[in-house]
Amino acid sequence: MENFTFYSPTLFAFGDGQEKKTGALIRRFGGTRALLISGGGSVRKNGAYGDAAASLQAAGVPFAELDGVQPNPRSGKVREGIALARETGADFLLAVGGGSVIDTAKAVGLGILYDGDFWDFFRGAAPVERTVPVGVVLTIAASGSEGSDSAVITNEELGLKWGMPHSDLIRPRFAVLNPRYTCSLPPYQTACGAVDIIAHVLERYFTNTPDVALTDRLCEALVKTVLDAAPRAMENPGDLAARADLMWSGMLAHNNLCGTGRVQDWASHQIEHELSAFTDCAHGAGLAVVMPAWMEYVMTHDVPRFAQFAVRMLGCEMDFAAPERTAREGIARLRRFFASLGMPASLEELGFRADQIPAAAANRAKKPGGFPFGNFVKIGQPEAAAILRLALRRA
Ligand code: NZQ
Ligand code: ZN
Repeated sequence: MENFTFYSPTLFAFGDGQEKKTGALIRRFGGTRALLISGGGSVRKNGAYGDAAASLQAAGVPFAELDGVQPNPRSGKVREGIALARETGADFLLAVGGGSVIDTAKAVGLGILYDGDFWDFFRGAAPVERTVPVGVVLTIAASGSEGSDSAVITNEELGLKWGMPHSDLIRPRFAVLNPRYTCSLPPYQTACGAVDIIAHVLERYFTNTPDVALTDRLCEALVKTVLDAAPRAMENPGDLAARADLMWSGMLAHNNLCGTGRVQDWASHQIEHELSAFTDCAHGAGLAVVMPAWMEYVMTHDVPRFAQFAVRMLGCEMDFAAPERTAREGIARLRRFFASLGMPASLEELGFRADQIPAAAANRAKKPGGFPFGNFVKIGQPEAAAILRLALRRA
C-alpha cells in the first residue's frame, strides 16, 4: 500500500425526510443567501426542488435560481451562474440534481471569487485556493460528485470536456441523499448511473500497487452491490432498498475511500470524456462501451488481477490451468451485464464514426499533460486510438 492523505469533509444526510434539513445545513455551513442550481426540470417534477425551496424558506435563507443546466454541463451556464451569484450576493450554492448540476455549482463556486475566467482552473492556469461553498440535494446515483474532489465541464466554444485538477476545497460541505428522489429516474439514466459507479470502482481496482487487500475488498463489495441492486431498480423503479444501495454506493465509489493507498488508472474516463465532447453521449453510456474495450486492450498486462476481478466481482470460476480464460470471461460477463441494462455495446450505437477516431484521440493532446494518461498501462495517442477502434463495433 502507498502512503496517502484522505480528507473527505462532506456531511451526508441520508434517507427519506432528510431533505427537510437542507436550509439548516446551509446555515450551519455559513450560508446566508443561496443560489439554487438545477437542470432541465426533472427535480421540479419529482418534488426535490420544491422540498429544497421549502426548507430554505423555513430556515430563513433567501435564494436566487439558476436552472437549465444540461447533461455534460456547459461553460456558458457556469458563466451565467457566476454573474447571477455575484449580482444576488449568493454566499452558498445549492445544487439540486445530478453530477452535471453539482459540477456546475462547483465551477461557479470557484469563479465567483476569481477575477479571470473560471476555465483557468480547468486548464491548470489558476490554483484552487478558495471557493464559495456548495451543498447538494442529490437526485441520481451516478457521478459521486456529491462527495468528490473534482468537477467536469464541457467548454462548448473549444469543443473540450475536461475534469479540473483535484482539490479537497471543492468537495461539497453537505449532501442530502434521499433515495426516494431517484425513483423517478428513467431506466436509461438508472443504467448509466450504475455503469458510472462500477467504472469509478474499477478505475481504482486496476492498479499496479501491491498489498492492497483491504481496498480490493471494499471495491469488490461495491461492485457486487451495484450488480445486484441495479437490475432490481430497473425492474421496479420504486424499489427503495435497491435505490438506497445504489445511492450510497455511488458516493462510496468516488469519494476515494476505496482508492486510498493505491495508484489509480482513469484511462477509461479520459477516453470517455473525449467521446462525450464529440457525441454529447451520456457519461455512463460512453463508459459502458469504452471500459470493456480498455479492459481487453490491457488485460495481458496483469492476468491474475483480471482473473481476481472475474472471480470475486463477476462470480466466474477460476481456471487455474488457463487464468486468461477466466479473465476474459469476467470481461464478457461485465459486457453482458451492461447490455442487460440496455446500455450500448459499441461506439457506432452512440453515433460515433470510425473517421472520428483520429480527431477524438488527438483532442486529448490539447489538455496540459494530456499524454500519456492512465497508470495501470500508460496510454499514448496511438493506444487511445486503438482502444476506440476496439470499441467501434460490438465485440
Ligand atoms: O436535467 P434534468 O431534467 O434534471 O434531467 C437529468 C438529466 O437529463 C436526469 N435526472 C437526474 N435526476 C433525475 C433525473 N430524471 C428523473 N428523475 C431524477 N431523479 O438525468 C439526466 C442526467 O443528469 P446528469 O446530472 O448529467 O447525470 P450524472 O449524475 O450521471 O452526471 C454526469 C456528469 O457528471 C460528470 C460526467 O462527466 C457528466 O458530465 N462526472 C463528474 C464527476 C465528478 N465531479 O466527480 C465524476 C464522474 O466520473 C463524471 O465524469
Ligand atoms: Zn464517471
